[in-house]
Amino acid sequence: MAKDSLSVVDNRTGRTYELPIEDGAIRARDLQQMGLVSYDPAFGNTASCRSRITYIDGDAGVLLYRGYPIEQLAERSTFLETAYLLVKGELPNAQHLAQWTHNITMHTIVHENIKNFMDGFRYDAHPMGMLVATVGALSTFYPEAKLIHDPDSRRIQTHRLLAKMPTIAAFAYRHATGMPYAYPDNDLSYTGNFLNMMFKVTELKYRPNPVLERALDVLFILHADHEQNCSANAMRSIGSSQVDPFSALAGACAALYGPLHGGANEAVLRMLQEIGSVANIPAYLQRVKAGEVRLMGFGHRVYKNFDPRGTVIKRLADQVFEVTGRNPLLDIAMELERIALQDDYFRERRLYPNVDFYSGIIYQAMGFPVDMFPVLFAIPRTAGWIAQWLEMVQDEEQRIARPRQIYQGPVQRDYVAIDRRAADAA
Ligand code: CMC
Repeated sequence: MAKDSLSVVDNRTGRTYELPIEDGAIRARDLQQMGLVSYDPAFGNTASCRSRITYIDGDAGVLLYRGYPIEQLAERSTFLETAYLLVKGELPNAQHLAQWTHNITMHTIVHENIKNFMDGFRYDAHPMGMLVATVGALSTFYPEAKLIHDPDSRRIQTHRLLAKMPTIAAFAYRHATGMPYAYPDNDLSYTGNFLNMMFKVTELKYRPNPVLERALDVLFILHADHEQNCSANAMRSIGSSQVDPFSALAGACAALYGPLHGGANEAVLRMLQEIGSVANIPAYLQRVKAGEVRLMGFGHRVYKNFDPRGTVIKRLADQVFEVTGRNPLLDIAMELERIALQDDYFRERRLYPNVDFYSGIIYQAMGFPVDMFPVLFAIPRTAGWIAQWLEMVQDEEQRIARPRQIYQGPVQRDYVAIDRRAADAA
């Protein structure tokens, strides 16, 4: 009997099977010999890939990108350097960083027809819906992107995606506000230019506030990757059909849009506005405990401790509020956190504030409308999605994603003509 194996006795046949254990996992495929599949709705305990990108220890509250603690990257790195690290696996030297920055900066502009395409949306279109559609549309502008096995094609699509996401995001905002689109200013940093495209009015040269520019850069670092979450899984799953990365990334954006994922920061803000004042917190928590609503920005599938990103964000909030003035919703958020952390309901379920609990309050203070919050998540997460996609494309163990099911529908039956169906049929 192999030491690293799992013995399984099948009581139906009396046979014993040895399932090899490798890297703390058994292969679900080994169950096939017993005529079994593994059943794991929502992939709660299923590893779908081997990855070298991001490590999370949810019990200890640890998050590492390529081995580097998120706190160190937030303190000392920049978003573009972190994106390089995620995509390429190592921190760049000065020359490689300069080249990478140049390559991305040179692709910030979008084809004029993209502008026309975005003009077609209704005046009140949600910017995240516009982002999903426009990123998908990019695939028609770069048909060579379908050459996913060509490293040169993968490299240029990586630059394009990282470069154009802020441009499309800002254009979506300008469309909603009726402002003319502001073109990229390649003299500025990645986040400085994004602020320029968002907020430039009539001034000849937009000069971002350095504190806000850096705060946004740190927020981008914190959101850059988070291993196999809903949208990363969408990116890999769609990409496994060998479609081009723009189409796969549109799907990842769509996954991020939902309120349980990247839409959570928007939902937190709306929740804090609904609560309205510190006095209303106990009544709101009663509704949460009664199962009527969820406490948005709390809880995480992986973290059963403080989310390390939340801790960095809380510190960042003070720096931002020194420039922008204090967001009055902060008082409600802090009191909500204090009460919830003492409450048995949240303690027993190990529900702590996650990255989204405070990020929305900062974004709002910086002047971003609530609708833009998931978009602000999608821009940096593009680095993570690309890293996950690149790893998947080059992983020889991967094939087209195709889960199994447990069929529980009707057994085979014959078609019934419409005039012979019961009156109360569904
Ligand atoms: N408020 C109230 N109860 C909660 C919450 C919450 N935010 N989250 C989980 N619970 C309860 C849930 O009702 C369940 O209780 P019970 O065992 O009595 O049925 C228990 O905790 C376990 O919850 P779960 O739904 O099995 O947990 P999950 O791992 O499937 O869900 C989650 C994770 C993030 C979707 C969930 O915690 C949630 O909906 N949080 C609010 C939305 C949110 O903030 N999302 C952002 C996540 S961080 C950004 C990102 O990475 O996308």
